[in-house]
Amino acid sequence: MCGIVGFVGHKLDAKDVVLSGLTKLEYRGYDSAGISLFNSKFRSFDIYKDFGRVQKLKDLTKDTLKSHIGIGHTRWATHGKVTKDNAHPHYSQSKRFIIVHNGVIENHDELKSQYLRDSLFYSETDTEVIAQLIESFSDTLSVENAILTTLKLLEGSYALLVIDTQMPDTIYAAKNKSPLVLGISDDGVTVASDLMALVGFSSKYVALADHTFIVCEADSVKLYNLNHEILPLNYSEIDLDESFSELGEYQHYMLKEIYEQPSVVSRIVQHYLVDENKMISDEILNDIKASDRIYVLAAGTSMHAGFVGKYILEELAGLPVEVHIASEFAYHTPLLTHKPFFIMISQSGETADLRACLMKTKKLKYKTLTITNVKTSTLARESNYYLELFAGPEIAVASTKAYVAQIGVLSILGYRLSNASFDLKEALTKVALSIEDFLEHQDVSSLVHKIITKRNCFYIGRTLDYYTSLEAALKLKEISYIQTEGFAAGELKHGTIALIEEGTPVIALISNPEISNNTRSNLNEVVARGATTIKISLSNTSHKDDDIILKDVHPLLTPMVMVVPTQLFAYYAALERGLDIDKPRNLAKSVTVE
Ligand code: F6R
Repeated sequence: MCGIVGFVGHKLDAKDVVLSGLTKLEYRGYDSAGISLFNSKFRSFDIYKDFGRVQKLKDLTKDTLKSHIGIGHTRWATHGKVTKDNAHPHYSQSKRFIIVHNGVIENHDELKSQYLRDSLFYSETDTEVIAQLIESFSDTLSVENAILTTLKLLEGSYALLVIDTQMPDTIYAAKNKSPLVLGISDDGVTVASDLMALVGFSSKYVALADHTFIVCEADSVKLYNLNHEILPLNYSEIDLDESFSELGEYQHYMLKEIYEQPSVVSRIVQHYLVDENKMISDEILNDIKASDRIYVLAAGTSMHAGFVGKYILEELAGLPVEVHIASEFAYHTPLLTHKPFFIMISQSGETADLRACLMKTKKLKYKTLTITNVKTSTLARESNYYLELFAGPEIAVASTKAYVAQIGVLSILGYRLSNASFDLKEALTKVALSIEDFLEHQDVSSLVHKIITKRNCFYIGRTLDYYTSLEAALKLKEISYIQTEGFAAGELKHGTIALIEEGTPVIALISNPEISNNTRSNLNEVVARGATTIKISLSNTSHKDDDIILKDVHPLLTPMVMVVPTQLFAYYAALERGLDIDKPRNLAKSVTVE
């Protein structure tokens, strides 16, 4: 979702730091970009912004003078259309203050009518209200107090950077609910919404807590709470590997990340099953064992991994598990058992719907474990426990390797909670080999012609294959924009089969030997009504005319391999359709608004 980067320093050109940071954050999804830089000739700040890509911003700023300070933003529209006027940065009315903001100010209408009835607004955004409020309070207060007074009035989420054009060496920043990190080095101070944007420019960082306010100059940073009391700055080393964000031989990140899946599985095995010091702690296991029900909360792809996790945890550990959509759970919490334990699954660790759930479970004093790919994320920091996915940064908006990693980690958790006697290390290694074998030896691109010209498409499967069909359908929808549904194979005949007509693609997932004949019967029902079919099976469920046959894996781990051909279908369908694979329209990598 929106990205923020600000820099103040000595040697470097702020434009380079900010644009480099914004480029690294492009994968999060956005529709407009903007930057404000100090113009040393006129000793004033210029703003460059427009809808479209960061590249446009690079073109707009190619002749600017070197600047020691700058703030930039990529916007994912929430209030107001995708226009140049709505792009950030925004000025306050007299142009004294310049601001960029991530998040949503829920009471912006009330604030406008209570405090800003005479102000002129240039955009449709909620952000401009913040700039105008700061300006109105600065008539009587110092800048810092004007900002603090404004922050206390805001309801909602914000990560924001403010420049007072009268103090051209300072960036003011504040955070509540939306992520913000601060990085330092000998070159200066960088503030950004994602650690990734600091890589290459900062050696140490602090992830800021909610309701904090910072004042940054090239050589000094001061952290405050909203009462203007100074707080300690506890820095950590940045240990992100930049090579993860390079495309290498691949045309798209999504393809690269699909191909990385065998090594992601191996990494998880190494970490949680080989390295004795890094196994899941007894504390986590004991807390789960002491509970009477696990509640899994997640959204989208992570929720689909949660469904698989439920199956695995119930089968292996015999613990009852409920899976809930985060955005629903947060505001319509079901009746809970006496001793619930919560597992949040989130690739980014920043999903606002999940954060709202976490606030709720914390208030109720229940224990929470977050399973995430980003150990520095808000959810990882604020939960009682976290388990890392070790998938490496996922850049493509459509999640692939993080999904497989989520199931991998859930299987290890289920195993450690159980008395199972099979060798999970060997079973997961077989998963890695099965995926590798498929990626090396089978070409799905030729099957994609059965899908790409069609209006809609179905994935069907039973039990674990049903969950995979949900994920497969989501992937095809988000990348190729083909209307797709994932269906329990036996359920189709209860109504939805009415949509099957001549040529409708139906892709069957057949990995469970006990019920593979039932799925094949359901497939015959759609063939009889004209459907074009694709069959994906495992060696032990296969028929010789199946389109894709994957090597067998442990029955509980089949989703980790069955999903891979469907990821490639989505990829090749989008490629054939000429779409922006890594940045599909309207989507964001990290959904930081509710
Ligand atoms: C789809 C996808 C999304 C996310 C969802 C939750 O490819 O990635 O459905 O799974 O937005 O995000 P996280 O996992 O970051 O909480």
